[in-house]
This record gives sequence, C-alpha cells and structure tokens, in this order.
Amino acid sequence: MKHIILVTGAGKGIGRAIALEFSRAVRHHPDFEPVLVLSSRTAADLESISLECRAEGALTDTVTADLSNMTDLRRLTAHIVEHYGRIDCLVNNAGVGRFGSLFDMTEEDFEYTISTNLKGTYFLTQALFAMMERQRSGHIFFITSVAATKAFKHSSIYCMSKFGQRGLVETMRLYARNCNVRITDVQPGAVHTPMWGEVNDEMQALMMMPEDIAAPVVQAYLQPARTVVEEIVLRPTGGDLQEE
Ligand SMILES: NC(=O)c1ccc[n+]([C@@H]2O[C@H](COP(=O)([O-])OP(=O)(O)OC[C@H]3O[C@@H](n4cnc5c(N)ncnc54)[C@H](OP(=O)(O)O)[C@@H]3O)[C@@H](O)[C@H]2O)c1
Repeated sequence: MKHIILVTGAGKGIGRAIALEFSRAVRHHPDFEPVLVLSSRTAADLESISLECRAEGALTDTVTADLSNMTDLRRLTAHIVEHYGRIDCLVNNAGVGRFGSLFDMTEEDFEYTISTNLKGTYFLTQALFAMMERQRSGHIFFITSVAATKAFKHSSIYCMSKFGQRGLVETMRLYARNCNVRITDVQPGAVHTPMWGEVNDEMQALMMMPEDIAAPVVQAYLQPARTVVEEIVLRPTGGDLQEE
C-alpha cells in the first residue's frame, strides 16, 4: 500500500536519516510502499537524499521550500493536494537554532528561529491536518527536543520555540483523537548533525547519531493503526551535554 509521507528538513541531519529509514523499511515490510516527499531550502541536498532513498526502493519527490515563507509553504501544501490528494504522514522536522548568551541574541535571531520553528510548523500542520481530518487517518511527528521541557542557558530563543512547539503538540492531540490521527512528539537530546557546526571528536563521542532518532520514528509509524506512540524521548547515555 502506498503511504504519502512528507519529511521537512529532509536534506540534512535527522530529517535525512528519517527519509532513509522509511526507505529501508521496505525490505522488512513488503506491503509498505513509501512515497517520500522530501522538502528543505537546498535543492542539491534534496537531490542527493532522493537518489539514496530511491536506491533503497522508495518512490520520492522533492520540493524546495522555505517554511518560514508563507508563499513557499502554501506551494508545498498545494503540491501535496494536487499530486497526491492525500497525506498519510507529516514529519515536522525542519528547524533551526541560534545559540549564545541571552544578551547576545538579536531581533534577527528571534525572527529567524520563530518563523521556522513556530510559524512554519504551525501553518504546515494546520494545512495538512485538515486533509488528515477529512481522510480520518494520518500521523504527525513533531521533532521537538529535550529543550522542549528543559531549559538550557545558551538556548533561550531555541528553548522558547521548542516549548512552544510542545504547546502545539498538546493542542493537536485534542483535535487528532476525534478523527483517528496519531500524534507523536519526538524529543531528542544532542544529535551529531550540521546544526551543531564543527564539533571535536571528544564532543561527538558524547552525542547520538541521526539514525538513532530515525529508527524509533519509523517503528512508531509502523505500529498498528490502533496504537499511537505518543512520546519518544532519546538522550545520549551519558546525559545532556550541558546541564544548564
Ligand atoms: N541536532 C540536535 O542535537 C537536535 C536535538 C533535538 C532536536 N533537534 C531538532 O531536530 C530537527 C532537525 O535538526 P537537525 O539537527 O537535523 O538540523 P540540521 O542538520 O541543521 O538540518 C535541518 C534541516 O531543516 C532544514 N530547514 C531549516 N530551516 C528550514 C526552513 N525555514 N524551511 C525549510 N527547511 C528548513 C534544513 O535544510 P536547509 O538549510 O537546506 O533548508 C535541514 O535540511 C530540528 O527541528 C531540531 O530543532 C535537533
């Protein structure tokens, strides 16, 4: 059976690993035919992940879009409506972070973070949940963070955006239960991805890898439709990198 799956931020890091893991699931689940709609701002990244997913047996489609831009966001949702007429899974993964002391954060840092993590996530969810509600089926993943429930001193705007995403997750549960839609909040601790920039070997050894997050996401999706994995919290075994 074909499953229309949109992964935002699919070009790098955790989103990329989730796209690959959905593709690899084909090996063990012969009835599972993922059609992966891969989206981010960088076309070259999407081309490369698309080829890798196809090599694993998935069908793919790429849409370059900046989710902080409402015109792009509407173009992405219109693409789903026009090409597929349904959506089975939305992975709200695209996100950005600017880190530093409270006193160093600028208005631009604020707008940049909030317009993707909150505004983009909100309006994409609003548009695609409407389709799921009509279908009376679907699954929405939110890749939030451990920073959605715990504060970190050098992540003030990022924490604010992730605590905010959690507000949306909990609101969506109220809508989703009435129409057979599943909501999963994925809260990772530190994962070695381009978001962190250059990290030394010592620090990398204290982090998870993107595939560590992707595997439980795909397992949660492949649960029987009667069961929802509501929350997935994953941390490096040694704990969070910073304790404040
Ligand atoms: N890495 C961690 O330690 C960690 C921990 C917990 C939670 N998370 C969350 O996991 C998610 C993925 O993070 P990551 O570490 O994989 O980050 P990443 O390596 O920087 O990748 C982020 C992806 O999102 C895309 N993206 C960013 N802003 C976008 C926008 N406005 N519109 C469309 N696409 C956009 C990026 O592509 P382009 O730049 O090409 O658009 C990229 O493909 C984020 O929500 C992050 O907050 C990460």
